[in-house]
Amino acid sequence: MSDQIPPPNPDARPERESLVGITFRPAHHSDAGALVALWEACGLTRPWNDPRKDIGFARDGAASDVLVGVEGDVIIASVMVGHDGHRGAVYYVAVDPSRQGTRLGRAVMAAAEDWLKARGVWKLNLMVRETNLAALGFYEGLGFQRSDVVVMQKVLTAED
Ligand SMILES: CC(C)(COP(=O)(O)OP(=O)(O)OC[C@H]1O[C@@H](n2cnc3c(N)ncnc32)[C@H](O)[C@@H]1OP(=O)(O)O)[C@@H](O)C(=O)NCCC(=O)NCCS
Repeated sequence: MSDQIPPPNPDARPERESLVGITFRPAHHSDAGALVALWEACGLTRPWNDPRKDIGFARDGAASDVLVGVEGDVIIASVMVGHDGHRGAVYYVAVDPSRQGTRLGRAVMAAAEDWLKARGVWKLNLMVRETNLAALGFYEGLGFQRSDVVVMQKVLTAED
């Protein structure tokens, strides 16, 4: 299967001019360093998460991957995408700070949605920190709606 994912719906998007030369593809193992640098620049890393472990786990998963937007050989956008057999999810949605506001975020989310649709997934959940008002505005602009649910988490350890 081809490694290349075409830009989403290029003919239907008025922003296609700004996406010329940008392609979306699954991340390679060798992309890890550039991905971590992108996520750090975007403020997406946290001390309690190991981003390299996250990349490896998503890439190795049967129902998950990391997609990157590249211009030449430079990674300028990313999204981690996957599903749990019921709903889709995205993480690490990032656009290089120097390229934000040029509809790359919209394009990388469309690539993730295409990835999910190709696998039969019809609903996508995502989590946004309440304080990330810019991201909330971005997702609402993409048609996402706030949902009246509380996200609960538990760290699983060998002792549990
Ligand atoms: C959030 C992020 C991915 C958005 O990417 P981007 O390239 O800047 O966004 P785009 O240019 O594709 O914007 C897409 C649409 O969302 C709108 N939008 C973007 N930010 C918005 C905001 N704060 N409020 C309202 N609308 C917004 C744009 O106007 C645009 O609408 P249009 O296509 O109809 O003109 C990017 O800013 C980023 O990497 N931020 C830092 C990391 C982060 O917070 N990630 C999300 C974690 S949950």
